[in-house]
Amino acid sequence: MEVAEVFADLPRLETERLVLRRATSEDVADVFAYASDPDVARHTTWDAHGSPEASRAFVESLLARHAAGEVANWMMVLKAEACVVGTCGFVYWNPRHNRAEVGYALARRLWGRGLMTEAIRRVCDFGFDVMGCNRIEARCLTENIASARVMEKVGMTFEGVIREQMYVKGAYRDLRLYSVLRRERPVREGHSP
Ligand SMILES: CC(C)(COP(=O)(O)OP(=O)(O)OC[C@H]1O[C@@H](n2cnc3c(N)ncnc32)[C@H](O)[C@@H]1OP(=O)(O)O)[C@@H](O)C(=O)NCCC(=O)NCCS
Repeated sequence: MEVAEVFADLPRLETERLVLRRATSEDVADVFAYASDPDVARHTTWDAHGSPEASRAFVESLLARHAAGEVANWMMVLKAEACVVGTCGFVYWNPRHNRAEVGYALARRLWGRGLMTEAIRRVCDFGFDVMGCNRIEARCLTENIASARVMEKVGMTFEGVIREQMYVKGAYRDLRLYSVLRRERPVREGHSP
């Protein structure tokens, strides 16, 4: 499968509380609302957005990716509020090896309600069912306990620490590596692997 076959027309996905959809130029203010929060950016590779222009540049980078048929995150829309509250999805996909990596971020005020676990379960289903992945990976800074917990809750296995793999915010940082394989994917109600 070619990357553009899936990502040139990124489909809308739905979960109980969320809609995952492609970015639009209308999303800049909602993105700034969560991505300007230093707590959200504390354990990310990107810096907190210092102005709406930074959020605009981020949204435009997603729009360019959609237009080019490249791997791109979904915007997470909370159904109850009809606004964008985060991003999640694939940051990397190698169709030759059927291996992909997920990434995500959510507005601080919504943490701890299981929303990202709900979203990443849906994203992993998409990866296995539509993209044909054999292996879906995720990485986080070692101190990002909430992110590691999401990886565990979606059925990923901790594989180890990748030492000083990234230079982030002025220092070489260790990352925790997780993955779930097609043959291990959790069986859930309403879904057969
Ligand atoms: C990581 C993040 C997406 C999690 O989203 P979320 O919707 O709050 O995640 P969930 O509610 O599904 O699960 C979070 C889990 O972490 C746990 N957790 C959070 N902080 C914790 C801490 N300091 N110590 C122990 N557990 C913690 C929660 O209790 C929950 O586990 P539980 O359901 O077993 O109780 C969110 O915190 C976030 O956006 N962080 C900033 C951006 C980021 O770090 N992105 C990931 C980069 S790798």
